[in-house]
Amino acid sequence: MKMDTQVFPDIDALSRGVLKELQGILEEAIASRGRFAIALSGGHTPAKLYGLWAEKSSFRTPWEHVHLFWGDERYVPQDDPLSNYRMTRETLISRVPIPAANVHPVPVNLPTPEKAAEAYEAELRKFFAGEPPAFDLQLLGLGGEGHTASLFPGSPALAEKKRWVAAVEAPAKPPRRLTFTPVVLNSGRNTFFLVAGADKREILSAIRNEPDSTPSKYPAARIRPKGPVIWFLDQRAAS
Ligand code: 6PG
Repeated sequence: MKMDTQVFPDIDALSRGVLKELQGILEEAIASRGRFAIALSGGHTPAKLYGLWAEKSSFRTPWEHVHLFWGDERYVPQDDPLSNYRMTRETLISRVPIPAANVHPVPVNLPTPEKAAEAYEAELRKFFAGEPPAFDLQLLGLGGEGHTASLFPGSPALAEKKRWVAAVEAPAKPPRRLTFTPVVLNSGRNTFFLVAGADKREILSAIRNEPDSTPSKYPAARIRPKGPVIWFLDQRAAS
């Protein structure tokens, strides 16, 4: 698979590299569409980026025009240590003047993951007002077995053609999750994969060496967004 990669010595440099590109996309989106809609990823790798984005020294972000969504979430309370929302609140949201109405967490307070998926899809459809769910920027990670967002190998959600958000049972902790489906992820205007650490080396080379002809068995390689895709890698993952 052909990958457009940018390789950095470490996670700090990678996060600065991503923030620089994010700034350009944010300014273009606000200039042409009046808002910047970003789908955030969870896990560990983006935490440094979120912290950097919150720092005063970073570029001045017009937070009143920024809308935060999550490409996937664990079905746990928002104050749970495994919550992607919590990680983002601690590293970014609590440190910047973003209007509460611009923060769109997955409604994990609803009684079932299925109800949370329906409600989040309804919120997305309202936000995109009849337009395709084309985020200005979607951040994605890569799991050791090739998952991205919470689309894991063999997940029925990979074949989804209608729904925008799916409740899934993942072979990971915690198992119950909500995830954007390929319907949303393939609509992305810009997609950044953030991949760091030696433990991602094997899966990266497996994805790279896969023939482009056959549909990939790795969800991260199955995602085919409309817009450009950049893989931000640290040296340990890339070598
Ligand atoms: C999640 C993520 C997931 C993540 C990968 C990589 O909720 O777990 O969104 O897709 O991006 O698991 O995670 P790390 O960055 O922690 O390696």
